[in-house]
Amino acid sequence: APARFTLDPAFGVGKVDPRLFGSFVEHLGRCVYTGIFEPGHPAADEAGLRQDVLGLVRELGVTAIRYPGGNFVSGYKWEDGVGPVEDRPRRLDLAWRSTETNCFGLGEFIDFVTKAGGEPMMALNLGTRGVAEALELQEYANHPGGTALSDRRVAHGAKDPYGIRLWCLGNELDGPWQTGHKTAEEYGRLAAETARAMRQIEPGAELVACGSSGRSMPTFAEWEATVLTQTYDLVDHISLHAYYQEHDGDRDSFLASAVDMESFIESVVATCDHIGARLRSKKRIGLSFDEWNVWYQTRHHEQPSPDWAEAPRLLEDNYTVTDAVVFGSLLIALLRHADRVRIACLAQLVNVIAPIMTEPGGPAWKQTTFYPFAQASRYGRGRVLQVNVTGPTHETARYGTVPLLHATATVDEETGTVTVFAVNRSLENTLPLEVGLRGVAAGRVLGHSVLADADPEATNTLADPERVVPHEGKGTTLSDGTLHAMLEPMSWNVIRLA
Ligand code: AHR
Repeated sequence: APARFTLDPAFGVGKVDPRLFGSFVEHLGRCVYTGIFEPGHPAADEAGLRQDVLGLVRELGVTAIRYPGGNFVSGYKWEDGVGPVEDRPRRLDLAWRSTETNCFGLGEFIDFVTKAGGEPMMALNLGTRGVAEALELQEYANHPGGTALSDRRVAHGAKDPYGIRLWCLGNELDGPWQTGHKTAEEYGRLAAETARAMRQIEPGAELVACGSSGRSMPTFAEWEATVLTQTYDLVDHISLHAYYQEHDGDRDSFLASAVDMESFIESVVATCDHIGARLRSKKRIGLSFDEWNVWYQTRHHEQPSPDWAEAPRLLEDNYTVTDAVVFGSLLIALLRHADRVRIACLAQLVNVIAPIMTEPGGPAWKQTTFYPFAQASRYGRGRVLQVNVTGPTHETARYGTVPLLHATATVDEETGTVTVFAVNRSLENTLPLEVGLRGVAAGRVLGHSVLADADPEATNTLADPERVVPHEGKGTTLSDGTLHAMLEPMSWNVIRLA
């Protein structure tokens, strides 16, 4: 039986905030060093930024870029990374047991994000530091001049302020692994006082409070409720983090990971609105899903920790086509909740659980996950339409009965283009798809791009970087107001109509 849904522009979810297609650059492994930044590389520009990588970042369509961590930020001194490079200190990075040279810092990051066509999302250290250091960074970065800190930035070569608008009030402070880990009460108070003071400098700063580092944390939901009770009027968003992997060969459950992501989002929305109701507030808190991806964390935990090496190879997962289909489904989950999820950051951007890989002195190449992200960022703009699927289901060990089709759709009202994003979760079977179009002007199929492979373990590698690339779907038609398509087993599909 086919999977079916009807699209009607009268039934929308919400407008897509472009920052839904954000990413994340952490001082971790080779994300910065020999990733985006490698002075002396043949493709490096005068600032040491790899232009081959910058080209791929632009092609990926990344918007907001979160920086400099992650766990790293909770022990970081931003001052170490500004001023003459030869004066910058080498430091222990406790989070990743590495040595941080500080050759790359705030100014280099702003240069990178500008050249990448993105917007900075700056994370503050609320682990080992507090209100004063956050204000100092804000003044250094954003105040035009005439004060000690802003003049220091000018002396460091940046006459114009960086204009950082979006700030994360710390990272994963609910996690016992976090340097400066806190209780919800402690963190909520610190986040509130930091936010209040930052708003004295810039009332319009956009601030993200830390939610839980995962919904399986024992403090999940209680943490959000306590933090929001203290910060509700002072922050704009609360963060969510989630990583998925296949467990014990249970591929059906892995392919249904977005079921968990969607219910995580809905639980956080409910918690935010509950606090809003208690406070009799009209304000709605946004969600910043500022770390999401497929990540084989169990493999990472089995590896020995590095011994204070510089830019070691860490978390360099190589993604299969199966991972890319799950990844696409996670993008669908984010789009389906575009009314509340305003910001999302794919963690991370280069080398570290990343869609872009590099070799020191060598080439840059695309992982399987590059393609769903680039397509979603390019075509998943405009307004998300409601998609209520009927059709075949199957049983999964982790999530019970799940639909075989996971889908969303966007309409770009300027061009009238409609894009359907669809994942077939069946490992064995082609899934017929029927989409009724009510009040949608589209009359023809512009294209049907498919990511699927007969070998579910197929990956791209340095030696064979184009082993997995999208291909064109066959037999996709649009007639009498109905779209018909056949979705290959375990596939990510992008169908565009105009
Ligand atoms: O993205 C890798 C790590 O995952 C981040 O540093 C941390 O915030 C999360 O636990």
